[in-house]
Amino acid sequence: MSFKLPELGYKKNALAPIMSEETLDLHHGKHHQTYITNLNKLIEGSEMSQMTLEEIIIQSSKDKLKSGIFNNASQHWNHILFWKCMKPGGGGPIPKRLKDRIESDFGSEEEFKKQFIQAGITQFGSGWCWLSIDNGKLVVSKTSNAENTLLHNMKPILGCDLWEHSYYVDYKNRRLEYLENFYEKLINWEFVESNLD
Ligand code: FE2
Repeated sequence: MSFKLPELGYKKNALAPIMSEETLDLHHGKHHQTYITNLNKLIEGSEMSQMTLEEIIIQSSKDKLKSGIFNNASQHWNHILFWKCMKPGGGGPIPKRLKDRIESDFGSEEEFKKQFIQAGITQFGSGWCWLSIDNGKLVVSKTSNAENTLLHNMKPILGCDLWEHSYYVDYKNRRLEYLENFYEKLINWEFVESNLD
């Protein structure tokens, strides 16, 4: 199977000024595309070319010699989720079913928001911060580089890209401002809620 760059569900200028067209051009059109091009080259003709993306991620994570495959496959998976986690005019009130789960597992939405943003600013270097389902419970965590929480037997339902390519054009070194804007103005909570199923 050959992997392809998914379309964004919105125009490249639709998230501006929170996330600019220039950022999306580079991030979706160049960075994400490069992960896919590399992945396709690395698995061409091998048994992995017959596997699903999730199978490739799990299999390659167990073999240090396959770190190139792992990094590109996992980044492809992470970015597919990331694009869907945002929408024009996003943020705002969390739909009831998800809000109830968040309040039950974190105590309050404020506590969840604090933990999510804290995970994002304390991730040293490149990586991701996540809201995942871990044995039926919602948890916040962070991972380095291409890693995601699938590897820890969790189901990631919201992910924020902490690589500089995601925010440097618009926010320079101000990762906290990027994270707050992502949370308050970009998150597609209906999509995140749909991942509870
Ligand atoms: Fe990225």
